[in-house]
Amino acid sequence: MRIDLVTLFPEMFSVVRDLGVTGRAHGNQLWSLHAHSPRDYTEDVHRTVDDRPYGGGPGMVMMAEPLTRALSAIRTQRATQDQDTQEQSNQDQAAQDQAAQEQSNQDQAAQEQATQERATQDQSTQDHAPVVLLSPIGKPFDQAQAKRLARSSGAIFICGRYEGVDQRFIDQHVDEQWSLGDFVLSGGEIAALAMIDAAVRLLPGALNHDQSSTQDSFQDSLSGLLDSPHYTRPENLNGQAVPAVLLSGNHAHIARWRREQSLAITLANRPDLIEQARARGLLTKADERYLLALVAP
Ligand SMILES: C[S@@+](CC[C@H](N)C(=O)[O-])C[C@H]1O[C@@H](n2cnc3c(N)ncnc32)[C@H](O)[C@@H]1O
Repeated sequence: MRIDLVTLFPEMFSVVRDLGVTGRAHGNQLWSLHAHSPRDYTEDVHRTVDDRPYGGGPGMVMMAEPLTRALSAIRTQRATQDQDTQEQSNQDQAAQDQAAQEQSNQDQAAQEQATQERATQDQSTQDHAPVVLLSPIGKPFDQAQAKRLARSSGAIFICGRYEGVDQRFIDQHVDEQWSLGDFVLSGGEIAALAMIDAAVRLLPGALNHDQSSTQDSFQDSLSGLLDSPHYTRPENLNGQAVPAVLLSGNHAHIARWRREQSLAITLANRPDLIEQARARGLLTKADERYLLALVAP
C-alpha cells in the first residue's frame, strides 16, 4: 500500500512512519508514505499556496494550482513506481518461463496464458489510486473504510488548511471526501494520520499477533459490536478483583462472558450497532435472550 499526501506540514507524518505498529510495518515495507508540500509546486518567490476568498469573509483558501501540480507529480511518481515493479515482475516471469520451457520443452496453452496474463498486468501500470480530500463535509470514516483502504494499493490524501480548498480543484480532481467526525480540525493532517493508522494495522503482518485486530471493536468476528473489557496482572488491584470467570480456564465460559460484555457495552454506548448486527442476522438466540434480560430484568 502506497500513501501519498499533499500537506503543508509533511513533518507531521513522521509519527506514523517512525513509531509503533505503523512504524514497524513501514520498516518492514508493508506500506510506504510519501508526503509532498504544495509549496514545492508554487511558481512565485513567496511560495504562495493560499489567497483571500472571492466574495469576502474571513480566512484564506488553498489555491488550486499548486495542488494540481503536486497531484500531477504524484501520479507520475506512482506510475513510474508501478512500471519499475512491473518490469521487475516481467523479468522474473520471463526467467521462470524460460526455465519452464527448458524443463518441459513447451506447453503451448500455458505459454499463451502467461502472455495474456502479462498483457493484463501491463494495463494495470496506470495509477488509479483515488484522490481523497479530508473534509468535515465528507463521508464519516469507519472500520469498513479502513478495511477497504488496507486492501487497496493506497490513496492520495489532500490535507486542507485555512478555510479549505478552492472548489474547482475538488470538482476536477477529488474522487472522495472523508471526514474524521462531526468536529472541525485546523487541518486534514490529524484526520489523515488517524485513517492511515487504522488501515495500516489491518495489513497482513502488521500486528505481532495475527488475532489482535480480528478481536477489535467493529470487526466481523465481533459481529460489528464493541470490544469487551481487558484485565492483566495483578489479580487483585487494591481490592478490585479480576472477574472470576477469566481465571476459570473454561474457554466456553470465558467466550460467553466476553460476548455478553460486548452486548452490554454496545447496548449502553452504541445501540445503533446492536440494530445493525440484528439486521445482518448476526445475533444468536442466546444473544437476544441476554439483551432482553438487560432491558427488562
Ligand atoms: C479549518 S478546516 C476548514 C473547515 C471548513 N471551512 C468547514 O467549515 O467545513 C481546515 C481543513 O481541515 C480539515 N478538516 C477539518 N475538520 C475535519 C474533519 N472533521 N475531518 C477531516 N478533515 C477535516 C479539512 O481538510 C479542512 O479543509
